[in-house]
Amino acid sequence: MNTATKNLEDDHVHILRLIDVMEYIVAHEASDIAHIESIVEIIRNYADGLHHAKEEYHFFPFLATKGFSAQHGPVAVMLHEHVLGRDFVKGIAAGIELFRKGNLTALVDIHKNMKGYSDLLRSHIGKENNILFRMADNALTEADHHQLLSRFEEAEKEHASSAGSKEYILKINELTSYYEI
Ligand SMILES: [Fe+2]
Ligand SMILES: [Fe+2]
Repeated sequence: MNTATKNLEDDHVHILRLIDVMEYIVAHEASDIAHIESIVEIIRNYADGLHHAKEEYHFFPFLATKGFSAQHGPVAVMLHEHVLGRDFVKGIAAGIELFRKGNLTALVDIHKNMKGYSDLLRSHIGKENNILFRMADNALTEADHHQLLSRFEEAEKEHASSAGSKEYILKINELTSYYEI
């Protein structure tokens, strides 16, 4: 059966491949700023813009109707981590701006924020895949999954009016092949 949790886990696979690239760049102190800019764009439009939107506007509110509080417990932790992730991305973007203006030491800050984002998202995705989604599977019926999947499809369509998730997956593929990951 195709489930809402499986759909979100499929997004995680691509987001984790992007994190592999980010970790490679940090570990090798790579300075290809165009790649780092592209990573910010992919996170903002795909990892956050589509995936986190699916979770925050559809999945988590649906779970709330099944007794999962958004104020405390696992969903609250996940929401808080999405906010923390956005702060790291802001840090990366601010560093890029400084770097573009000639402040080459901004690269240290860019890498620090990329490491922060990677560590956070790796652990976040682990918690969703292994804990929250398994709890959700116990609470959701087959009809619930179908309902959520059609909402996800709507979210994808709305999103696709600018650039579909496929475009961002292709961008991730380009990065992984460039860095031979
Ligand atoms: Fe999440
Ligand atoms: Fe997620």
